[in-house]
Amino acid sequence: MYTTDLSGKNAKKPEAAAAEDPVLLATFEARVANDEFIEPKDWMPEAYRRTLVRQISQHAHSEIVGMLPEGNWITRAPNLRRKAILLAKVQDEGGHGLYLYSAAETLGASREEMIDALHSGKAKYSTIFNYPTLTWADIGAIGWLVDGAAIMNQVPLQRTSYGPYARAMVRICKEESFHQRQGYELMMAMMAGTPEQKRMGQDAMNRWWHPSLMMFGPPDDKSPNTEQSIRWRIKRETNDELRQKFVDVTVPQAEAIGLSVPDPNLKWNDARGHYDFGALDWEEFYAVVRGEGAVAKERMTARVKAWEDGAWVREAARAYAEKRAAAKVAAE
Ligand SMILES: [Fe+2]
Ligand SMILES: [Fe+2]
Repeated sequence: MYTTDLSGKNAKKPEAAAAEDPVLLATFEARVANDEFIEPKDWMPEAYRRTLVRQISQHAHSEIVGMLPEGNWITRAPNLRRKAILLAKVQDEGGHGLYLYSAAETLGASREEMIDALHSGKAKYSTIFNYPTLTWADIGAIGWLVDGAAIMNQVPLQRTSYGPYARAMVRICKEESFHQRQGYELMMAMMAGTPEQKRMGQDAMNRWWHPSLMMFGPPDDKSPNTEQSIRWRIKRETNDELRQKFVDVTVPQAEAIGLSVPDPNLKWNDARGHYDFGALDWEEFYAVVRGEGAVAKERMTARVKAWEDGAWVREAARAYAEKRAAAKVAAE
């Protein structure tokens, strides 16, 4: 889902395709075609490594930045049950970020380079997190729609060709499915509530529907990396295929709880066996990708502050590791 280009310092220098050993390349491609996992010490084409570092680190950044819009609501959750659920969810997202940074590190990217690329604005994260969370109903809409779209993207990634990424996704998907369910359950409660709660639920739906559809990335004919990524089984389904699946699954869920989908062109198409839906405003998407808007600045300020506030923890951990290493040498 994180298809925007990342050209951070962590991206390795491109090597000409011609420089790749044709025998190694053929063996690699045969293994991938045979659905084998590629592991960190295996030979891989430089472009494969680069694409994965970009995709996995963007994914990791998105998990970490994704903690912020919902984190804002932990202190304002309406009751203890909702607070416990939201705390667990936001904590899960932090864990997802950590698995994914670790997976990217197996490809030679360093944590410091990745964090630096995020903080300096060179690396991108999912644009969805640059939208503000205005009401409590947004917490329901995010879990249901945003995590729901994330699952659509991430289930096929459990079979992505790079082993460490695929294995990280197995656990992440289990947790994402809890995120989606708690969001839908929250929306259900809102839609069974007072007229004011129903209005809030519909308002959240109106604001999050289109951004959620854009999470799948640009249309296939405007997504230059898709074909190569599918061939190398980094991606298993295209942006448009995944978007359609999401619409088909989500529309009946909305209708079941009395929410209307904010799209006048939405209509079941019997011949296709899918919903037809209206065109998306990609200009808005690219403006959000470019980081325009107050929320994007607020997100980065919060991330940089968290990183700086945590410096003492990293220093203490390093000092402790050095002390233990020294004690081990002394004992030998
Ligand atoms: Fe996550
Ligand atoms: Fe999630």
